[in-house]
Amino acid sequence: MDKNILTQDIITKVQESVDIVDVISGYLPLSNKGKNFFGVCPFHSDHSPSMSVSREKQIYKCFACGASGNVFNFVMNYENTTFIDAVKILANKAGIPLNIKTSNYKEKSKLQVLYDIFDVTQKFYKNNINTKDGEKALEFIKNRKFDLSIIKDFELGLSLKEDDKLVNLLTKKGYNQNDMMRTGLVNKNERGLKDMYINRIMFPIHNLQGNLVGYSGRIFNGEKLNKYFNTKETEIFKKGEILYNYHRAKSAVKEHDQVIVVEGFFATIRLHTIGVDNVVATLGTAFTKNHASILKRMAKEIVLCFDGDNAGSDATNSCIKELEKVGVIPKIIRLEDNLDPDDYVLKYGKDRMLEKINNPMNIMDYKLNYYKKDKDLTNNQDLSKYVNDMIDELKLIDDDIYRELTLKKLSDISKLSVDILKKKLNDEEIVTKAPRYEKKEAKLSKYDLAERNILYYVLNSKDIYLKVIKENLKFNNQKYIDLILDLNNYLKEHDNLKISSLLTFYRDNMDMTNLLNDLIDLDLKDECSNTEINDYIKIIKERTNKKKMNSLKSNLKDATTTDEKTRLVEQMFKLRKKELEGENIYD
Ligand code: CTP
Ligand code: MN
Repeated sequence: MDKNILTQDIITKVQESVDIVDVISGYLPLSNKGKNFFGVCPFHSDHSPSMSVSREKQIYKCFACGASGNVFNFVMNYENTTFIDAVKILANKAGIPLNIKTSNYKEKSKLQVLYDIFDVTQKFYKNNINTKDGEKALEFIKNRKFDLSIIKDFELGLSLKEDDKLVNLLTKKGYNQNDMMRTGLVNKNERGLKDMYINRIMFPIHNLQGNLVGYSGRIFNGEKLNKYFNTKETEIFKKGEILYNYHRAKSAVKEHDQVIVVEGFFATIRLHTIGVDNVVATLGTAFTKNHASILKRMAKEIVLCFDGDNAGSDATNSCIKELEKVGVIPKIIRLEDNLDPDDYVLKYGKDRMLEKINNPMNIMDYKLNYYKKDKDLTNNQDLSKYVNDMIDELKLIDDDIYRELTLKKLSDISKLSVDILKKKLNDEEIVTKAPRYEKKEAKLSKYDLAERNILYYVLNSKDIYLKVIKENLKFNNQKYIDLILDLNNYLKEHDNLKISSLLTFYRDNMDMTNLLNDLIDLDLKDECSNTEINDYIKIIKERTNKKKMNSLKSNLKDATTTDEKTRLVEQMFKLRKKELEGENIYD
């Protein structure tokens, strides 16, 4: 967002002028052990020194909670602040004058103008709710049994009945049509530029850095319209990268090392009113693997507390699946009577809700319960289906004790002996072994391993990067291909490759940031010999050749003319010959 206010040069200069070990030592004690420094990680609750800081690589990493990043990430997370503020803090420390201009509208970055528009809009909506126009909205909030203090706490606002009030305001402030449309807050129709939000209670939605990037507006007069209306995807509003309330929840999440995930705005707000603030919400949009990674980095314990109805149960299941993909096993809260957390608190009171929150179900208890749904366990067919469903789940558990305990429970429910269940489990396991719950790294093929490892070294060495380019290495993983392509641009602005500075380069790209953090997590040894690099290269070329050979083979199968067949066979010979010589060829 702020790339042009702070030039890349200045950012690089700031990053290079500070030493991550000094900076982190300013926040917490570090002790030196060998090459690295160690301290107690401030991003989860812990007493042992599980965070390591590397002076050489200028990155930190926590072995316990997985937090990792460069000096900017540390300051952003520790101070709970934006990137630009982290740069300011560190520039100050390094004595680099920033004189960021409060520049006028034209000079600002491409995205800054959107944030500026949101700033004006937010003041407008916020003000409306406290005027005469807001009376009905306040009444709605009171009728929902909320104290009006939630308006301040969640920065709620109101869009007006007229459909041009915001447009007029923004026009008066000098914003142009195009920029207004880019925010998703206004729309053009036959009558001209019009507000998107009309007469709704406005819930501001922030990105992970806490910048306002969109809204959801709720009807409050019973109109026959969609209950909620969300800002469409824009340059800055990316639903896959947002969890509602993330920026507010962060410190409470850190404090409890637990994050509670709910489905909606009012669930989040209701939990706040009973003193539970470590809450984020999915916003009725699909829960993606990216959301799962965000949650994984937030806290050790993730608790899903979705609505008690069938939709909530389905949402719980798809969420569990995504979390399992990133190696997280969540805990689950299910609410009776189809209630959502908001209704639940209203119906049963604060204490019963807190009781639920303090005693979430472990995932196997949840599944033992879930698979019973719509089954009559006195019916043998249903019972057998139930047991099979559970056996499938049990196969995924590595922990022997946990497995034994769950088997016992399954035996109680099904009235089948533990021995029989165990036998069934063991028999099936020989056939299928799905290592889904393994926290350990998934087994990679030698090809995937070679790609990943060489990439790790590329990110810390321009020489190895140049070698990869010179050898014209073809990666198989699309993300790696994208990254290698980006490095070309990166090197236009930087002399050298360094993972810590790449983290800055990719700060607005969640996908790449995740990839870099995963690579940091690998913790490969620092140096890699030429022989090892050459071995990796050989392996990667071997796969390229294999793929090429396969495609030639399949072309040969489809070939109809003798000429074509001859040509393909010749190419196959040539490829085989090169392969024997240890080289690869590309067309
Ligand atoms: N949602 C949405 N669009 C809709 C309905 C729902 O974006 N048309 C999202 C909202 O973020 C909402 C969440 O999905 O908060 C859960 O939906 P729902 O349970 O229907 O709403 P509640 O949060 O319970 O809101 P209310 O209590 O006002 O009905
Ligand atoms: Mn509700």
